[in-house]
Amino acid sequence: MSPPFFSWPAVRVAVIGAGLMGREVASAFGRWFALLECGVRPELIGVCDVNPDALAWFRGIPGVRYFETDPTALLKHEDIDVVYVAVPHHLHESIYLEVLRAGKDLLAEKPFGIDLASARRIRDEAARLGRFVRVSSEFPFLPGAQRALAYAREDRLGRPIEARSAFLHSSDLDSQKPINWKRQSRYCGEAGVMNDLGMHVTHLPLRLGWSPTRIYSRLQRLHTERPDGKGGVAASDTWDNATVLCSATIQNEIVPLTLEMKRLAPGETNTWIFELLGTDGGVRFSTKEPKTLWTFQRGQEQVWSKTDLGFGTAFKTITGGIFEPGFPDILQQMWAAFLAERAGLLGWRLGCVTPDEAVAQHELWQAALISQREARAVEVSEVSP
Ligand SMILES: NC(=O)c1ccc[n+]([C@@H]2O[C@H](COP(=O)([O-])OP(=O)(O)OC[C@H]3O[C@@H](n4cnc5c(N)ncnc54)[C@H](O)[C@@H]3O)[C@@H](O)[C@H]2O)c1
Repeated sequence: MSPPFFSWPAVRVAVIGAGLMGREVASAFGRWFALLECGVRPELIGVCDVNPDALAWFRGIPGVRYFETDPTALLKHEDIDVVYVAVPHHLHESIYLEVLRAGKDLLAEKPFGIDLASARRIRDEAARLGRFVRVSSEFPFLPGAQRALAYAREDRLGRPIEARSAFLHSSDLDSQKPINWKRQSRYCGEAGVMNDLGMHVTHLPLRLGWSPTRIYSRLQRLHTERPDGKGGVAASDTWDNATVLCSATIQNEIVPLTLEMKRLAPGETNTWIFELLGTDGGVRFSTKEPKTLWTFQRGQEQVWSKTDLGFGTAFKTITGGIFEPGFPDILQQMWAAFLAERAGLLGWRLGCVTPDEAVAQHELWQAALISQREARAVEVSEVSP
């Protein structure tokens, strides 16, 4: 029997920005036959990068027929349906708008424009043109995150107490690590680490409708200069760490929601954390323990239970149920969600971040920047229309 994959209609995809993420996408598409559910299948047919060397790796990928160094040239190919764009943040708006105006749908990389004004322009143009647009955020597609999301939607908390969503790196602890574009405001954006890691921490809170209304932030710039890679030093002027304390509405109560995005978090390589606590129940999931879901129950005793998770992804695959998923699996799941939603086949499953959610996220970071500058709590309504 053929896998269902072969009967699914094809969607022709191109990638702009053939770096780390572009290659991961090609890999996820290359084993699409692992999926037993989705209903559509991507075909990678084009790739574009200003650096011709970055294109070389793609020459070995079956089916790729367009190799361009200019996005405008790539977008002239009429048989491309969807474009994935993974370029530095200062280029998001111009390239995203060009993609949309070329009549293509878009899976955008975070942060969806360099700032709030940029995000609004992209969202509004996508709506005007009627294009299908979503934004990348993979971690909520891990089985543990999906279980935590399901728990948060149930009525098991008692009175909600607080929630935390965090994404932590330690990549910048070393002050001698050379500068790159992500550490420079003109390329990364004034919001710095919030632009870089913020989509990962807001996807579930915003999808759950927790909508923060008031923000107090503490932003840290820990290393202000770095080697420039040419024997000199260069200014490192982005925020490295952000702790954003929000007032959010969870199950009709206003409670603290802490959003943490950090590049200098000792001991954390790439840790995504989601935690929700109430008087009777609670849930905690972290990629630090990728097989483990913690749930809390208050009875005569207080008990944190540990559930060993398997391969419980939203889109079923051929992979054995007891195996452990990793980043390549959730990237594929995220793409399955994007393509299935575009085809009207998502059903009950979690979808990718919407343009409205991406704009709402930028509103939070705009408020966080004001909070840092003026050392006060900021109403999100001060920056939203
Ligand atoms: N979703 C995730 O988990 C994840 C992880 C890493 C990065 N990202 C995001 O992906 C995007 C790219 O980050 P990265 O780490 O891959 O950066 P990178 O610097 O490694 O790669 C960017 C690529 O874009 C190319 N490029 C630059 N200008 C271009 C242009 N005008 N046209 C075409 N190509 C151009 C560069 O040559 C480079 O190959 C950013 O938005 C970043 O935030 C997302």
